[in-house]
Amino acid sequence: MCGIVGYIGQKEAYPIVLKGLKRLEYRGYDSTGVAIIQEGNLQVHKKKGKVAELEEAVVGKNMHSHICIGHTRWATHGEPSDRNAHPHLSNNGRLAMLHNGIIENYAQIKKELLSKGYTFKSDTDTEVLLNFIQDIQDNNKSTLEEALRIALKRIVGAYCILLIDQDDPETIIAARKGSPLVIGIGKGEHFLASDASPIIEYTKEVVYVNDYEIAIVKADELILKNLGNEKQTPFIQKLDMELAAIEKGGYDHFMLKEIFEQPDTIFDCLRGRLLHDQHQIVMAGVDNHIDALTNASRIMIVACGTSWHAGLVAEYMIEELCRIPVEVEYASEFRYRNPVIHPGDVIIAISQSGETADTLVALESAKEKGAFIFGVVNAVGSSIARLSHAGAYTHAGPEIGVASTKAFTGQLAVLSMMALKMAKAKGSISDERYVHLVNELASVPEKVKEILTDTSKIESIAQQYKGASDFLYLGRGYNFPIALEGALKLKEITYIHAEGYPAAEMKHGPIALVDENLPVVFVATKDMYYEKVVSNIQEIKARKGQVIAVATVGDTVLPTMSDNIMFVPEIDEVFAPLLSVIPLQLLSYYVGIYKGIDVDKPRNLAKSVTVE
Ligand code: G6P
Repeated sequence: MCGIVGYIGQKEAYPIVLKGLKRLEYRGYDSTGVAIIQEGNLQVHKKKGKVAELEEAVVGKNMHSHICIGHTRWATHGEPSDRNAHPHLSNNGRLAMLHNGIIENYAQIKKELLSKGYTFKSDTDTEVLLNFIQDIQDNNKSTLEEALRIALKRIVGAYCILLIDQDDPETIIAARKGSPLVIGIGKGEHFLASDASPIIEYTKEVVYVNDYEIAIVKADELILKNLGNEKQTPFIQKLDMELAAIEKGGYDHFMLKEIFEQPDTIFDCLRGRLLHDQHQIVMAGVDNHIDALTNASRIMIVACGTSWHAGLVAEYMIEELCRIPVEVEYASEFRYRNPVIHPGDVIIAISQSGETADTLVALESAKEKGAFIFGVVNAVGSSIARLSHAGAYTHAGPEIGVASTKAFTGQLAVLSMMALKMAKAKGSISDERYVHLVNELASVPEKVKEILTDTSKIESIAQQYKGASDFLYLGRGYNFPIALEGALKLKEITYIHAEGYPAAEMKHGPIALVDENLPVVFVATKDMYYEKVVSNIQEIKARKGQVIAVATVGDTVLPTMSDNIMFVPEIDEVFAPLLSVIPLQLLSYYVGIYKGIDVDKPRNLAKSVTVE
């Protein structure tokens, strides 16, 4: 994880890096640090806590410099503390380096360095790599670039590093493998960052650095090389992103802004693809590979976290509409359990960031075994997007709040269109049902807007239950993954323990938890399971549980048996998840707010998990 920013050019570097780090805090925020060079002197300032705490700590200090590298951390090796914060200094005090990733074989290298007399101020793998570079440089009398190249060949793990040398204040050296790095090209200046959000304000021309590449970055020069020291041609891309999209736009929190953006983001995702009047779906990634997708004997979906929940919804959709067996896999399990993959097997990878390490590595190994990879990704140009053979972007725009909201509904929208399109091509859906579902899908943005018009009821439910210590979330069919997602959202941003369960399965365990203090959220919209869910609600009521229901507008039964109710408009059950998740996102948000939690940056979490 961690966010990385660097600047070299004519402007004051520190304010640019600081602002960039604030934009990258979603990647981690347990400590912050910067390094600058002032008249040949390397200076490092770092502090445990969020970026604002470092900003405060350096007030009044001379931060004047035209070169700066900065880091916002999500701890892997070593607890969050001042001394474990990046950048780290080499033993000779000349080099400063910061790092996003994990060096897996650091212990062996550290042992070697300790025997040579090196000392370490931190518990990090980063400081080990840095001193390893210094050691190679000293022994071989090589340039820093050469020493870095030799060191990286010995390293096992993932990294994006930025390195500066006080004897060369005109250069930032960067390298990546597995952790992202974008370089923005300005006029006589360069920007380096983990994603484009710190760069967009200054330039739209960027280069995405590839794995095993080293970048030698000066104010007016950018050289890319591979680890074999061969020059690579930088591929300059134009960013299709506006600054406004990554700012709060009047909302108190990014999470709230992102929840309220959903009518637009879902609309943007469908726009130009779901040709509602013509009852057609145009998705180049699917069109070009329709045979591979529809002839698949099975489809595997690989993802983590909220994206995994979107995968579960897709399983229900694809199996029902396309009659193709689907398996949904946690990427972290899939990558290590030697899964059976045959050439031509289809894997759908779902990821907001496109950088989740477990998902990325799982896909790399599946690709090697001949699988066809289809990426459903939000971050344009991200590693998973580039690794996929084909794909469809979710077009939700930058998602900054750590808890995923609009990216999730974007994923559902893409997967819905895919399932419909594949079903139509395969002939596994009647024309009548196809047309009906196309119309229903097109109605989603308006219906989401309706849910968001009045949130007062949800706010009052949040107020009522903010003191609960546990929640149970139950749903069946298409709403089962939404019960899981509702519980995950609550855990993430309120720190209340919550469990999601299939409503019928609760009899086999969770029912033992039910008493008058336990809020039980039923996702109980009108679908083929409705009557059965009503029976499950009775079972909870009989044990005095507090029932909070997500119900379809016009339902007159559930209000008589629920303590609280949140309504969503009527829709075909296939697309119910796109609506029923919205009140659950809001419920978590308001409980988090009432508990005084920083919902955009909840403890211990990070938005983009680039470590395994
Ligand atoms: C982290 C985030 C979640 C996200 C998950 C998968 O845990 O906090 O919101 O669902 O990673 O991330 P991805 O970017 O691959 O969707």
